[in-house]
Amino acid sequence: MDIKAVKTTPYADQIMGTSGLRKKTAVMRQPHYLENFVQSVFDSLDGFEGKTLVVGGDGRYFNKEALQIILKMAAANQFGKIIVGQNGVLSTPAASHLIRKYQAFGGLILSASHNPGGADGDFGIKFNIHTGAPAPQILTAAISDRAAEIDRYWTIEAPDVDLSVVGTYMLGASEVVVIDSVSDYVAYMQEIFDFSTLKKLFQSGFSMTFDAMNAVTGPYAKRLFEELLGAPTGTVVNAIPLPDFGGLHPEPNLTYAKHLVDRMMQPSAPDFAAASDGDGDRFMILGPSFFLNPSDALAIFADYLDTVPFYHGKVYGVARSMPTSVAVDAVARRRSLPLYETPTGWKFFGNLLDAKKIALCGEESFGAGSFHIREKDGLWAVLLFLSIMAETGKSVSQLAHELWHRDGRVFCSTHSYEGLDANDAADLMHALVDRLPELPGQTIAGLTIDQAFEFSYDDPVSCETTAHQGICLYLADKSRVVFRLSGTGSSGATLRVYYNRLVQDTMRFEADVQETLADLITFADTVAEISSRTGRTAPTVRT
Ligand code: G1P
Ligand code: ZN
Repeated sequence: MDIKAVKTTPYADQIMGTSGLRKKTAVMRQPHYLENFVQSVFDSLDGFEGKTLVVGGDGRYFNKEALQIILKMAAANQFGKIIVGQNGVLSTPAASHLIRKYQAFGGLILSASHNPGGADGDFGIKFNIHTGAPAPQILTAAISDRAAEIDRYWTIEAPDVDLSVVGTYMLGASEVVVIDSVSDYVAYMQEIFDFSTLKKLFQSGFSMTFDAMNAVTGPYAKRLFEELLGAPTGTVVNAIPLPDFGGLHPEPNLTYAKHLVDRMMQPSAPDFAAASDGDGDRFMILGPSFFLNPSDALAIFADYLDTVPFYHGKVYGVARSMPTSVAVDAVARRRSLPLYETPTGWKFFGNLLDAKKIALCGEESFGAGSFHIREKDGLWAVLLFLSIMAETGKSVSQLAHELWHRDGRVFCSTHSYEGLDANDAADLMHALVDRLPELPGQTIAGLTIDQAFEFSYDDPVSCETTAHQGICLYLADKSRVVFRLSGTGSSGATLRVYYNRLVQDTMRFEADVQETLADLITFADTVAEISSRTGRTAPTVRT
């Protein structure tokens, strides 16, 4: 085998964000850029020689080329076996599952999640550890440190591996196993959920649309819903993964999946609609004329998880990321479940899941998951919701109303200001942090601030502290406004402002979300000087 060391020089910007390294595709395609990062990952790990690596991606532009580079580098670095999805495709949840199932050392997942793809879009890569979880903070920091000083990487001279055919190939001394991207994941879903009950739901005439947004979930959803559960052909739309997602922004929310939302507002709407994102870890659920807020979905999941036999006696506790609405907190209190509040990003849930402190976790950004894998899982969330509907006979809207009537309705919304000048955004946050000590007791735009602090997380398992995870302002009426900067963008900055207000008065349950939060929105603009500092009078995306 012809292993060679290639000399290289570091790039200064290989710093991992909320979920791995995300960059403009053109940045990732610079000479040695991907290679530097991949070697930095390998150099930060110990003892993987002869072990298994899982690799795959969401099929976006540059996925195939990147995979060939990675395969050769993994072989040169002496992984024993490399498991790769057919055509290089694996959804993020499927990759997490494969790492666990085949007891791999870890996995490299190529995805920029919900960010647009294509030559002018984004590309991303992240490393997941042997549990299937995204690399913890300590490892991502080590990888970025290594990337800042890397001077060589290892690869082999070999022809590309044919990833279009399932089978086992040799690459140098390593075995490359090309597997069907869908089968293992689908088999696992059949273990978790009762497919015969779900099948009956569809036999009873229940209608559904699943929008794969031209991204990775298409083949998984076709197999699950149309082939196994008997939903009619055409239930899954935008089902063929395309390198540029057909020009769609594969982020299932009220803005980027507006076509689906509009369809559900028509009299001809199906009983249920769902969508997923670029790499299949997010979900959006809608009923006829009804949008289910992901934070409410998490609360409903917490309420009903134990109705699924797979989870009987295992609902240890629940976790939500700090900016996620407090709807799930009330369920946890009612059910005497421990509740954990973590920083944004899935990597913080891994330890809690491993230690069996929680069974379920989720984020307001359309993410939910359980101990079945160590990533959020869009199709799992859809199957769980369908199982709850089959069990209770209730519609999406009925389940949400049931929750609100029990615990009150938490009106919540996330406002994202995308594409800001990075300095403006940083200055805005710094100015707010500087004022935190003086804010409690002040009345601004008619609202009195009760508490003002930066969120810091003490991991109860690893005892690591992660500070500066967002600015929280609690108001006298217990409403909450949170400010943080996104860690997944590829250029500029995105400011996220999260709003929460608990309403107990049932007469106000049907009120418009943005109107109910209007005074909080004005308050946020005033206290953080959003419009004057950024020149923006409205957010880019409201969810
Ligand atoms: C966003 C979401 C966050 C999620 C992450 C990865 O991160 O807000 O909840 O975990 O994408 O899907 P952000 O861009 O806010 O750092
Ligand atoms: Zn994603």
